[in-house]
Amino acid sequence: MRVVIKDSSADCSSWTAGYIAYRIKKAAPTAKKPFVLGLPTGSTPLGVYKELIKLYQNKKVSFEHVVTFNMDEYVGLPPEDKNSYHYFMQENFFKYVNIHPKNIHILNGMTKDYAAECENYERAIQAYGGIDLLLGGVGTDGHIAFNEPFSSLSSRTRIKTLAPSTIKDNSRFFNNDISQVPTQALTIGIGTIMDAKEVIIMALGANKAEAIRQGIEGCVNHLWPITALQQHRYGIIVCDKEAASGLSKNTVGYFKSIESPAS
Ligand code: GLP
Repeated sequence: MRVVIKDSSADCSSWTAGYIAYRIKKAAPTAKKPFVLGLPTGSTPLGVYKELIKLYQNKKVSFEHVVTFNMDEYVGLPPEDKNSYHYFMQENFFKYVNIHPKNIHILNGMTKDYAAECENYERAIQAYGGIDLLLGGVGTDGHIAFNEPFSSLSSRTRIKTLAPSTIKDNSRFFNNDISQVPTQALTIGIGTIMDAKEVIIMALGANKAEAIRQGIEGCVNHLWPITALQQHRYGIIVCDKEAASGLSKNTVGYFKSIESPAS
């Protein structure tokens, strides 16, 4: 696992956006062989999206041949709902870049057939040859996408009931009213995440310190889904110093020593 610890959230965002742009350019995607990007929502990636938009505006990256798959979506929220992840992605990223609408994939939380929706999503990812690079955040309880604690580490795309801690954390987007937060979501599985060729999990702020400590220093276990990343061949954690504050001095020293200042 690679661990990139930066002094500020802004540094994390620009490092991550730069890395995504570098990967897209290096792949030199075409219409026939597009670059497949897995994307998250939440407050963590907002800075990354802003930086990617800047890179696009400065002609440093193009999304012409990029196909995206979002990680998750709430059950029961239509795309025009301000709290839906469809809305989030349009407003914070897609509408500012040259991505083709046909290349955007987000689970439909309004479907009548959850199983078919989830199976089709897995099939669509496979039809593109899998996800090249997946960016994710992490919940305070260690969840990735909406794979809550005790999710199977080999789970696939499916419907999940949200943990009370996630409902509480996410209620800040719903007028701090937990009764307004959907109780279920469609989410790619941990197995789906692990199948991506490369995975970046980003964490900002002291409230993620325990999840990051578990993810880097803890044992692989389903109580902390983020720990699955330890078994990924190309897993990267990007965090600011507050999110890294639960790590031992030795761990921080080790990872800082092997990251060159230019990386
Ligand atoms: C939600 C999302 C996750 C995200 C997590 C953390 O539950 N489903 O994908 O990683 O929240 O969100 P935030 O970045 O706002 O802390």
